[in-house]
Amino acid sequence: MTVQYKFPDNFWWGSAASATQMEGAAHEGGKGENIWDHWYKREPNRFFDGVGPETTSDFYYRYKEDIQRMKEIGHNSFRFSISWARLIPGGEGEVNQEAVNFYNDVINELLKYDIEPFVNLYHFDMPKEQQDKGGFENRDVVALFAEYAKQCFDLFGDRVKMWFTFNEPIVPVEGGYLYDFHYPNIVDAQKAFQVAYHTMLASALAISHFRKLDIKGQIGIILNLTPSYPRSQHPADLKAAHRADLFFNRSFLDPAVLGEFPTELIELLKEYEHLPAYKEEDLTVIKENTVDILGVNYYQPRRVKAKDHVPNPDSPFMPDWFFDNYEMPGRKMNPYRGWEIYEKGIYDIMINLKNNYGNIPSFISENGMGVQDEHRFLKDGRIEDDYRINFIKGHLTWLHKAIEEGCHTKGYHLWTFMDNWSWMNAYKNRYGFYSVNLETQERTAKKSAYWFKEVAENNGF
Ligand code: BG6
Repeated sequence: MTVQYKFPDNFWWGSAASATQMEGAAHEGGKGENIWDHWYKREPNRFFDGVGPETTSDFYYRYKEDIQRMKEIGHNSFRFSISWARLIPGGEGEVNQEAVNFYNDVINELLKYDIEPFVNLYHFDMPKEQQDKGGFENRDVVALFAEYAKQCFDLFGDRVKMWFTFNEPIVPVEGGYLYDFHYPNIVDAQKAFQVAYHTMLASALAISHFRKLDIKGQIGIILNLTPSYPRSQHPADLKAAHRADLFFNRSFLDPAVLGEFPTELIELLKEYEHLPAYKEEDLTVIKENTVDILGVNYYQPRRVKAKDHVPNPDSPFMPDWFFDNYEMPGRKMNPYRGWEIYEKGIYDIMINLKNNYGNIPSFISENGMGVQDEHRFLKDGRIEDDYRINFIKGHLTWLHKAIEEGCHTKGYHLWTFMDNWSWMNAYKNRYGFYSVNLETQERTAKKSAYWFKEVAENNGF
C-alpha cells in the first residue's frame, strides 16, 4: 500500500466499547442491577425490537477470543469500561471478587497481545441503588463515584496506564433529565444542570485520588464535542451557535481542561435561575484536577439557528434564550442512520483544542458509522462495508491535516469493535468491525476490519 497519509509514530489504532453494551452476563458473576437492567424490566417496549441489555455479544464469556481478534486486525489499543454495578454491586461497600477477576483477566489478556487497555470508569450505567438516591442529583453520589474510581486505581493501576472518568457526560444529562431517552426519564432543567455539575465535580474528585495514589499513567475524560455551525452570519444565528457550544461543549470541556466553568455560562444560569447548588471548595477541586488527556467522540456536527418562536413538540427543553436545530439543505447524510456526515468537523474540533485549550493531548475516542439492516450488504458471507471505509478515510484525512498543522492528536478509535447493544436503539444501528450473530454468537469480520488492519500496520493509508 502506498502511504499518502502517514500518522505520527506510536499512534493509537483501535476501537472502543462499553460494559453494558457488550459484556452480557447482566445478572451473573455477582453483578448488581444498573439503571438499564431496571428500566428494561420496567418498560421493555421503549427499546428497539424490545431487546434489552441481557442480549449482547457476550464479551464476559468470550473476551479471550475477542481480544485475539483485536490483535488480528492490528489493534494496539482498546477502550472498554468497567461496570460500577459489577465491581461494587449497589455502588458502595464490598468489592465483588468475581468482577475483579474478570477485569484483571481482560487487562492481562490485552497486555499479552501488546494492546494498551484504555479504561473508562463510567459509560451511562449508574447502579440502580444509587439512582434510587438521586444518582448525580445527589451530592453524596459524587463521593461514592470517586471512591469507586479509587478502588479501580488500586486494583488495576499497576497495569492500566490510560484512564478516563466519564464517557460523554452530557448524554445522561440530556437523556435522563431533558429529553427523555435515558432513565430516570425526568424532564427538569434545574435537575439537569445539577447532574451536569456533580458529574464534573465527581470527575475532578476521581482525578484527585488518581494523583494522590501517584499512578504511573494518564487520566482524562471522553467528551462528545459537537461543533456548532450557524445557519448564517446573522448575529442572531451566530449567537444561537455560540450558546449551543457553550452548553453542549464548553460546560464540560472548560472545567475538564481549564479547571473552570465559562463565566458566560454562569451568568446565563444565574439570569435564568438555573445555577446548580455548589460549595466554594468544589471549585478548588475542579481547578486543581484538570485532565492529562482528552478523548474526543465525534459523529456529526450541530447545525443551529436562532429560535423562531414556534414551539417544537420534540424538544421539551428549548427555551427562548436557547437555539433551534437547523436542517441545512444539501448536507451530506448517512442514508443508513440519518446522521449528518461532515468530515471537516473533526479538524475544526482539533484546531479549537489547539488554539483555545493549550493544545491538550487528545485522541479520537469514538467515530463511526451506524447502519440499519446492515445484512443487506452481505456478500459471500461477509459484510462489504465500503461506505464505512470511506467514512473512516474521510475523517482520517481531516485528522491528518490537523496533525500536520500542529494539533496534538495521538490516536483513532472506531466505535466499535463488534456490533453491540446501544441503549434504546438496541441493535438498530450496527457499527462494528465485526458483525455478530446473536443466536450463535458467531463473529464475522467485515471488509472494513481488514482494511483497518492495513492502516494500522502501515500507520496510515
Ligand atoms: C455514542 C455512545 O455516542 O453513540 C455509544 O458513546 C453509542 O454508547 C453510540 O452506542 C451509537 O449510538 P446509536 O444510537 O447510533 O446506536
